[in-house]
Amino acid sequence: MRLEVKNAHYSLLITQYPILESMKLTLKIWRQKSASAKGKIETYQVDGIEPDMSFLEMLDVLNEGFVEKNEEPVVFDHDCREGICGTCSLQINGEPHGPDSLITTCQLHMRKFNDGDTIVIEPFRATAFPVIKDLMVDRSSFDRIQQAGGYISVNTSGNTQDANNIPISKEDSDLSFNAATCIGCGACVAACKNASAMLFTAAKVSQFALLPQGKLEATRRVLAMVEQMDKEGFGNCTNTGACEIECPKGISLENIARMNREFMSASTEG
Ligand code: SF4
Ligand code: FES
Repeated sequence: MRLEVKNAHYSLLITQYPILESMKLTLKIWRQKSASAKGKIETYQVDGIEPDMSFLEMLDVLNEGFVEKNEEPVVFDHDCREGICGTCSLQINGEPHGPDSLITTCQLHMRKFNDGDTIVIEPFRATAFPVIKDLMVDRSSFDRIQQAGGYISVNTSGNTQDANNIPISKEDSDLSFNAATCIGCGACVAACKNASAMLFTAAKVSQFALLPQGKLEATRRVLAMVEQMDKEGFGNCTNTGACEIECPKGISLENIARMNREFMSASTEG
């Protein structure tokens, strides 16, 4: 609502925003006691949720209620709560990181939901991401792909070349930077019908493939990372594009095309 206040000396335009009421929600949450236990969806009610709370703060409110009743809180992963660390991996109403785009679960606000809504919350589903407990999954398969080749070797013996002396085109540095913004959250895997890790692996290959510093180990890197990706049990890419849509960092499918080119030329060289 806009209100205009005028007199001879001034004119003031006041915009009034509606006061958002707190919400009551029904949560259907995957509960699983351990990696080997059989899990199931349990239903809970949560009250007093402010629209400006984050999704994780809403779960905190739920868990405070469990602690007060001496019951087991829901286990979920989180660390930075700023969209940086990539740990907050939740499937919300069937979508990795929920209904908003280009954000992680910790950046999702409850104003995206309505009072009385039912929200289904599950862990990311993939064979290569086994459930540890409740909503927490083991994503160490991503770490092993990184360890297989997601690094460069730099001479640190005292005569290291200043990075500013190595000319890199603006286009390549931007593309490399964009690929490097992948936070390893796993939403691309959770979104993919084949649970493929191609977008993640392609981002990690691309960030080096585009820079001169990454050229030395390029052949070995792409072969080793793709081999590890396959070993971990991720599915194949069938060019559906769901990964790109659900990626909170907007990692482009172009990275997959680049990795495929790198892989083809490395296989020929090998
Ligand atoms: S590519 Fe996107 S969705 Fe996949 S791990 Fe990286 S940031 Fe997450
Ligand atoms: S908690 Fe770090 S990205 Fe969400």
